[in-house]
This record gives sequence, structure tokens and C-alpha cells, in this order.
Amino acid sequence: MRLVQKINDGWIFHADFSQDLIANAKAGETVRLPHNAVDLEMNYFDEKSFQKEFAYQLHLPWQAAFQHQEVALVFDGSMANTVVWVNGQQVAQHADGYTPFEARLTGLLQAGDNLITVKIDGSENPDIPPFGGQIDYLTYAGIYRDVWLKLTDAVSIARIKVETAHELSDAKAVTVIATLANPRGVALAGSARAELCTLDGTVLQQHTVAFTGDTVRLVFENLAGLALWELDSPQLYRVALHIDTPDGQDTLDARFGFRTARFATDGFRLNGKLLKIRGLNRHQSYPYVGYAMGRRAQELDADILKNQLHCNLARTSHYPQSPYFLDHCDEIGLLVFEEIAGWQHIGGATWQDESVENVRRMVQRDWNHPSIILWGVRINESRDNHDFFARTNAMARALDTTRQTGGVRCHEKSELLEDVYTMNDFFHIAPPDWLPGRTPAPLRQTRDVTGLAHDVPYMVTEYNGHMYPTKRIDPEDRQAEHATRHLEVLNAAYANPHISGAIGWCMFDYNTHKDFGAGDRICHHGVMDIFRAPKFAAAVYASQCPPQEQVVLEPVTYWARGEKDRCEVLPLLVLTNCDYIEFKFGDFPVKRAEPDRAKYPHLPYAPVTIDSRHVDMAEVGAWGMQWLDCQITGFVGGQAVSHVTLSGNPLPTTLEVVADSTTLLAGEKDAVRFTVRALDQCGRVLPFLDDVVAVEVTGGAKLLGPELVLFKGGVAGFWVESTGAHTDTQVVVSTRRLGRQVLTLTAA
Ligand code: GAL
Repeated sequence: MRLVQKINDGWIFHADFSQDLIANAKAGETVRLPHNAVDLEMNYFDEKSFQKEFAYQLHLPWQAAFQHQEVALVFDGSMANTVVWVNGQQVAQHADGYTPFEARLTGLLQAGDNLITVKIDGSENPDIPPFGGQIDYLTYAGIYRDVWLKLTDAVSIARIKVETAHELSDAKAVTVIATLANPRGVALAGSARAELCTLDGTVLQQHTVAFTGDTVRLVFENLAGLALWELDSPQLYRVALHIDTPDGQDTLDARFGFRTARFATDGFRLNGKLLKIRGLNRHQSYPYVGYAMGRRAQELDADILKNQLHCNLARTSHYPQSPYFLDHCDEIGLLVFEEIAGWQHIGGATWQDESVENVRRMVQRDWNHPSIILWGVRINESRDNHDFFARTNAMARALDTTRQTGGVRCHEKSELLEDVYTMNDFFHIAPPDWLPGRTPAPLRQTRDVTGLAHDVPYMVTEYNGHMYPTKRIDPEDRQAEHATRHLEVLNAAYANPHISGAIGWCMFDYNTHKDFGAGDRICHHGVMDIFRAPKFAAAVYASQCPPQEQVVLEPVTYWARGEKDRCEVLPLLVLTNCDYIEFKFGDFPVKRAEPDRAKYPHLPYAPVTIDSRHVDMAEVGAWGMQWLDCQITGFVGGQAVSHVTLSGNPLPTTLEVVADSTTLLAGEKDAVRFTVRALDQCGRVLPFLDDVVAVEVTGGAKLLGPELVLFKGGVAGFWVESTGAHTDTQVVVSTRRLGRQVLTLTAA
């Protein structure tokens, strides 16, 4: 038998750990997991505030099943160093903030009440990756993922690995390899039955084998009529494994897909077809609550990457991320490059041993995700260290022969121990001391980077970022340059067949240590802000999808006579996937402008730049002339498919409040994002509207963050989080100049 139950409610949180908590229950704040030990301000906070010890306690009442069953608590993730006691006895210690671990309670539970005490040490212990040097992100303390109570028989299934073969043929094969848990050390023998199923449970084939020992292996062959996992049809299947032994029965499922993923010297192939990777780096952090966000918030990031930014890959910079995020990448068809925890610094022997274990835990947790196409087994941007990285590579290869390894570096000519040379290339608009003997270019030549006389599989894993930080409230000029740099790097990546693709830094702005960012403890490096509200550069990515999927027409302008220097609005960059656009200023004649294929010959969809070739500058750029509306229309296949009006007289007109969902789930720590925008009469954002946004939340939810926020660049964001009460939630958003909006989230 197997009984697994989420055990996120009823934890008692203590802001300070003390020894007497190990065996004594104390009153404290009752919290629901995922939990953030210290909520931070949006900016100018003290990141040392969570670098200390905290405690959580849980009462676990006796259940009759505890008598004979194996009992464990499974922690999906807690930061950073965790110790677990049951009734005063230590049962687990885990020094890795990003991977799951189990605390075995068997034999230590008593009739009546049982006390679980968990100590979380959020300090940056130099023996634990990623700590020991500076890190450009925060590692928020807390039990920030789910905890489960797991009951099994004496013998159970510890983990399943599903390996596929002959994926591209109509005689596909699946090997199911299960490792058994046998904590009582009984003699292991029995039978195993594996069912290969569709996700809705239809059994396609089943096999039974007899086994001895702790590993079970079953092979399915000649599987006809099954679909591949493709980006636009990410077909998933399921294996249900049942074991039967004298000391226990168990059933465990594993989800998987059929696909091949291969980096070669001439690019990356998914299912044998060349695919240029176009991705963004993602941190798993959120404003105020750090890492402690539940399923739907994690899924939202994957949805944004796939459906709004039209990327095909996310890099989980710089650590294994939420299982919910990865599950959703499988479900929606978004590739993932996952890597171990680390940032530039390599610690001593204990640290390195722990890092090699990080590889093991990452691969074992995530090897069944079809979305994951590459394991990152170097410490991001660290110097070469032959012995250490030989070990991390060997660990990944021993555990998973189906995937290649990568290892993100930023130094040229570093030793290639991995299968793919994964390089952070910040060469674009490089400082002069980078350039002697080099031609300025958005990306370096691959052989200059590798120092090798032959080509190797190669991918660009970061660019832009700190080389051109850009806030969503920055002037139009800077935002246009920000977008341009993303365009130029992507164009260079598309130009070079040896480059498998490029992953930009980064998806959204993130909180960080004082040693980085704009002094406000935010790295404003995203193509979206911290609430995932798009900057103009977001449309660089979005516009690379075919217009049949989504038409993008985003003029990079606030359309005002005097926002840019010399009262010029041209050149005007329009990020679009249209065949051409028409531009009309006031009553002047319509002008047609084509995509700028001269500058961006390699992009799937080059932007349009409207300049003096199309428009007489005197018409639009004279201080003292009347300022007029502008009409921009996008055409595909000769048809007008999108239209934007830029008002010459913008006035506060609409308070737009959008919630990403109309429901809030009471039974889990669910959060819904709200985006508030101040719009003019043409539906364009009013970037300089200074107004306070007051948010009031009543019913079954609470607001994450303060009740008064400011429009920044005409946009404000917040999340509301369920309290657990099965009551509808009312969210009232009020402003002085644009009135109020009331939205209801239905409790589900
Ligand atoms: C890289 C690093 C990232 C981030 C980025 C900013 O060096 O890998 O984590 O700091 O720079 O551009």
C-alpha cells in the first residue's frame, strides 16, 4: 500500500530556533506551506534578515497505520540547511535548498501526539553550494515547497526511471527501471507489473516480471501508433508500476514522453529536426514572498514563457526549480536546461562533495521530464576545475545516458568536459579592453570562445543582463536600445549554424544581494519587471512567433513630442511579425514600411524601423508644431491584422485590472496575479502617471505585499493568496484619477 498526503497545513512557525524546541511544543504563528521565513520589502531590504535559524513544529497525531507501516515526511524543498526531529530524536539533515529529502519516522511515533520539529538554517554556510562567495540572487529561507506524509509497506518503490528508445520509429521502446526502498533490510524478491498508459489511464500494454534484489527492470518494445512529445503537441504517457513482495505491495506512477534531443556542431535537434533555441533565464523568486509560491504561480511563469513570450526554452538559473514548473513545461511543450546550484564560487572538499550530490539529486528527481534536454553540471561561471567537474559530469552520465551535459561558463578557452559548450556571452557592445584584435559583434565566434580548432556543440546561455540593465520606468530611448540589443544577439544566434540557440538574461527582474543590481537590491535585467509585466524588450521574443499563432505589433514608443532628445520620435522601432506595416501621422499620407531585413537578415521576424526613409522628419519632429495621433497597421498576406493608435493627446481614461484567473483554490497555497494598468483613450499605457494604487482584499484571500503601491511606468502588480477559507474573494483596486474596479475570485 501507499498513502501519500500533502501535509502543508497546521505548521507552527518560530522566528527563532532554540534547543528546547527540539522536544517541546511551543505556541507560535500557525502557517501553511509553502512558507517564507521572512517576507521582504520590494527593495532596500536587509538580505541578512533571513540568514539565521528558524523553527517549524507540527503535531502528528497517532494513526493505527503507523504501527506496521513505513512512515516518512517528504520535503520537496527547504532553504538552506534543514534538520528534522521527531519526539526529540533527529531523523534527517539536508544541506541542499533545492532538492527533496525524506525524514523516516518509522518506529519513533507513539500513541497520542507526536512532535515534529524542523530547524531551517538560512545562513549562507560556506560548506553548502551555492554559498561561500557572492551570489547574484537571494536564497530565501523557509520550508518553501510542499511537505508530504508518506505511508508505505516495508518494501516500496523508491524511484522510477523511464528511458525511451527508437523514439522516431513506429517501434518505440520503453525501459522502466525502478529502485526499491527496503529500510528494514529484508530479502527482496517478488513480481512487478508495469502498465504503459495514456494520461487518461487507458492501458496500452503491460508486462510482468519476477525479480530479486532492489532493482526492477521492465522493457516494452515495438510500441506502434504512439505520438512524439513535440513543442506544439507535447504528448505525455504514463507508466504505472506495481510490485508485489512478501513484505509489501506498492504502486507508483511516472510520466514521460517520447522525444530525442541532441546538440551537435550544426545545432540542436528535437525529434531529429533542427530547432534554434530561443529562451530566457528564469529565477524561481517572487516579490515579498521569495521562493514560497505554490503550483499555479509556478505554472504561470511557464505559460508566460511559452504563450506570451513565445520562447521555446527556459534555463532554471541557477538551481533545480519547482517540480510544478517542470511538470508544466512537460505539459505545454517548453524545453528546459536545468542546472545545479552555484554562482562563480567553488568551495572546498566538503562543498564539492555536496555539489556532486546536488547533481545526483537533480538528475534522480527530474530524469523523467521530457522537457529537460540538458543537465548543467558546472557551477555557473566558475573557473575551470578539472577534477571537480570531471566528477559532476561523470555523475550525470552514470545516472542518465540519454541526455547530454552542459556547464555554464563565461571564460574563453575553458576546458570542455561536457558535451555542449554552454557560454554566457556578454560581448555585445563590449568594453574596449575586450576588443583588441577583435571586431565588435553581438556574439563572439564560437572557435574564439572554445579555443578549439574544430567545432563543438555550442549554446549561448546568457547575454545582455548587467551589460544593459533597463527598468520598465526608464526613458523610451533606453528601452529601445534594450530591445535592440536583444534583437541583435538573437539575430547573431540565428545567423550562426554552430550556435544551437541563445538564452537571454533574463525573463524578469529579481531581488538580489547588495553587491548587485541598482542599489535597490533589484537586478533590473528582465524583459519583464518583477511582476512579470512586459518591458518593450519582451516583444522582441513574442514577435518571433508566426503571426498565425499570435500577431505582434508593438511600437517601442511613448509617442510624445518631447520624451526623446531633440524632440525626435524617429527612428521608431516596431517589434512585429507582420509582413509590413503602414504608418500614418495625423492627416499626412500613409507610409508603408517593411521589416528591416538588412539589419536583421536572420531573425524569423525582423522588426520594422520607421525612419527618414519613410517619413519626412520635418513632418513629425519640429518643436512648436502640433503633435498629432499616429496610426500603425500591421499586414499579413495583404490583410490588415492589427492596429495601434498612439494618441497625440493622451488622457487618463481607463483603470484596467486583470487577474490571471477568476478562481482561487482554497485547499492549497494558491496565488493569483493582478496587473493594474493606467490606460489612455486608445488603450495605451500612461507611463508617467503618478498615482497611488490602493488594494483592498476581503474574503478568502490576503494580499501579498503592501496595500498602497505606485504605478511604475503606468503599471502596478500584486498577488493575492488564499487563506484556506472556502469563501469568495473581493479585490478592490482604487486610484485617485482613474476610479476603482472590483474583481471577484470564486473560491474553488
Ligand atoms: C551572469 C550571471 C547571472 C547574472 C547575470 C547578469 O554573470 O550568470 O546570474 O548575474 O550575469 O547579467
